[in-house]
Amino acid sequence: MSVQQDHDGAEVAARVERRWATISAIIIVLLVALAAFAGIHRVTMPQPRVETIDPSRLHLSGEFVESNLGTALEPDGSVIVRAIGQQYSFTPACILVPAQTPITLRVTSADVIHGLFIRGTNINTMLVPGYVSEQFMRFEKTGDYLMPCQEFCSYGHEGMWGKVRVVDKADFDSRAKNGGRLSCVGE
Ligand code: CUA
Repeated sequence: MSVQQDHDGAEVAARVERRWATISAIIIVLLVALAAFAGIHRVTMPQPRVETIDPSRLHLSGEFVESNLGTALEPDGSVIVRAIGQQYSFTPACILVPAQTPITLRVTSADVIHGLFIRGTNINTMLVPGYVSEQFMRFEKTGDYLMPCQEFCSYGHEGMWGKVRVVDKADFDSRAKNGGRLSCVGE
């Protein structure tokens, strides 16, 4: 190999390397732009669904009066759970739901911001006073799940937790057949 050929080879290698470096840089810039767009777009758009409620009147009338809290069996076989978070407890403190059933969780806060997290699941929502949080969930297996408040809500925060009890569907149906609202408080 002559000195000239060596030189040509090095030039080709340098050119190819530059080209690939440019392509990698373009890919990185594109990914950053996509991530930035997705993030900014999301935070600047209004929520797809916002439901407001007067937190000072929850106990007086409407969906979240005490007698309406707990688990309700709907005519279509699904279940709606209504609950409230307040300093420093959940009402009901023990939520009873059937396994293998679509569940709609509707919760709100009576005072400050709380969080509702069901351990061992991906169910995690904030309870913001003035707003109704809605989450869909489904449990395949029966059992008890801890439900701690996961948003710091003042000095009693660490003592604020509830429980979700998932029972057999037939067991739930027999308890629900008399109507009304179910919970596992005191069981
Ligand atoms: Cu409620 Cu922390």
